[in-house]
Amino acid sequence: MKFFIDTANLEQIREAHDMGVLDGVTTNPSLMAKEGIKGVENQRKHYIDICNIVQGDVSAEVISTDYAGMIREGEELAALNPHIVVKVPCIADGIKAIKYFSGKGIRTNCTLVFSTGQALLAAKAGATYVSPFVGRLDDISEDGIALVGQIVEMYRYYGYTTQVLAASIRSTRHIIQCVEVGADVATCPLSAIKGLLKHPLTDSGLQKFLEDYKSING
Ligand code: E4P
Repeated sequence: MKFFIDTANLEQIREAHDMGVLDGVTTNPSLMAKEGIKGVENQRKHYIDICNIVQGDVSAEVISTDYAGMIREGEELAALNPHIVVKVPCIADGIKAIKYFSGKGIRTNCTLVFSTGQALLAAKAGATYVSPFVGRLDDISEDGIALVGQIVEMYRYYGYTTQVLAASIRSTRHIIQCVEVGADVATCPLSAIKGLLKHPLTDSGLQKFLEDYKSING
């Protein structure tokens, strides 16, 4: 399973990259706002800065909600760097835009997906990635991981090549559950990725090895 980091924070992206396990980055307008990146020019420069850190796919989201606007914005974003994947919301004009981008060889991430029906449309339009939002479904007492599993099975059954990118991941447990249901990618906060390392038996085992080494070597 590939790991993307779900942030626009350059320091966190660098830290995850330096761990040697990072395959890509997802951003959204809320994450850009969190970093205080104001103005279109600065935002575009920020995407380029991210691409310069990570040699992997970087999702950059369109703001337009109409077909013509999405095409214009998506083409501009894709031209910034070969690593850019155009992130398009799962609405009617978005599906149409994904179909257009797919024909032009521009890679896409269909975002804000909350049902298998939406994921089916994204795959039929030729999306590179589909992003079911796990945490936001859990927030309303639905089962986000179950949706990821259903989409994986549907794509496998019909042979769609769209990759299932589990988004809105909130915890280390979510990452393990994504592995269990066969997600292609999980986009996670840095804290959830680092959580995978934690085990008390690793810590106590290492401490004992070091103590025993010291006892014979001084
Ligand atoms: C990434 O592609 C999504 O935009 C992101 O994971 C949403 O996460 P949130 O539900 O924590 O805002």
